[in-house]
Amino acid sequence: MARVLVTRRLPFAALDRLAAEGHEVTVCDGELPPDRATLERAIAGADGLLCMLTERVDAALLDHAPQLRVVANYAVGVDNIDLAACAARGIPVGNTPDVLTAATADLAFALLLAAARRLAEGERAIREGDWHTWVPDRWLGADVHGATLVIVGAGRIGEAVARRAAGFDMRVLRVGRSDDLHAALGQADFVSVHTPLTPATRHLIDAAALAACRPGAILVNTARGGVVDQVAVAAALRSGHLAAAALDVMDPEPLPPDDPLLDAPNLLVVPHIGSATRGAREQMAELAVANVLAGIAGEPLPHPAPSPTLPD
Ligand code: DGY
Repeated sequence: MARVLVTRRLPFAALDRLAAEGHEVTVCDGELPPDRATLERAIAGADGLLCMLTERVDAALLDHAPQLRVVANYAVGVDNIDLAACAARGIPVGNTPDVLTAATADLAFALLLAAARRLAEGERAIREGDWHTWVPDRWLGADVHGATLVIVGAGRIGEAVARRAAGFDMRVLRVGRSDDLHAALGQADFVSVHTPLTPATRHLIDAAALAACRPGAILVNTARGGVVDQVAVAAALRSGHLAAAALDVMDPEPLPPDDPLLDAPNLLVVPHIGSATRGAREQMAELAVANVLAGIAGEPLPHPAPSPTLPD
């Protein structure tokens, strides 16, 4: 019998397997993530941790869990976890790749289309009584077909977005770690960000990168807020250099309602819902539980988190 800490309620059958296999499961039951003190108390004595991207798993937290044998993140991104600190203690880290690729790519494309065709603005106008007749020159958006989409981060989700873009007759440029980002951005009508957040990618999309985009470009981010310099995004929206930005992810999350970014024009924001389909979240639970079970059995994890130095 091992002790497993799950840091949020997950209403999926996969979790039942932990108890069914005889393990003692503690679930942090609140709507909000456990605060640090609660997490430190709860993790003491745990053999396995199934955590969300809202938990910072660093050396200080691991010091409270001397017998921890596995960290299973309920996410594909692992920027909330100090991988080096885990490795130093011999604790394997797992994530949930592949099963959320399609859902996240769908959302990226939904944001791209919504920003291009000004859906949120049009909907607001109707609700506010500001739609009086068919208008020849209002709510004019950007053509998606024939436009150039630059995909930053040539991994699985980026590829899935590229497939969707091909179906919309877009020209796609993929930018990986070794490619010239600014040269590609110079051709961008749309930019979609799909790179993990690492020290090397923090603020990769900064003021200079935005300036390199074609005037009137549209930015979509479903990766991590920290990959984009939000102050620079707000400035580019205000100057009109960016026609729009559509963000599923922000830094910090949640973004305080008085954050100046929210006052920028032509900004569409949604609350980190890239993987938020029932199917994706159920499968993420399956993968995370499989990682926990393997880790506490001392077996290799079926879904180990990639080293941050691997290609994005
Ligand atoms: C992930 O898995 O990293 C996503 O951001 C969660 O939706």
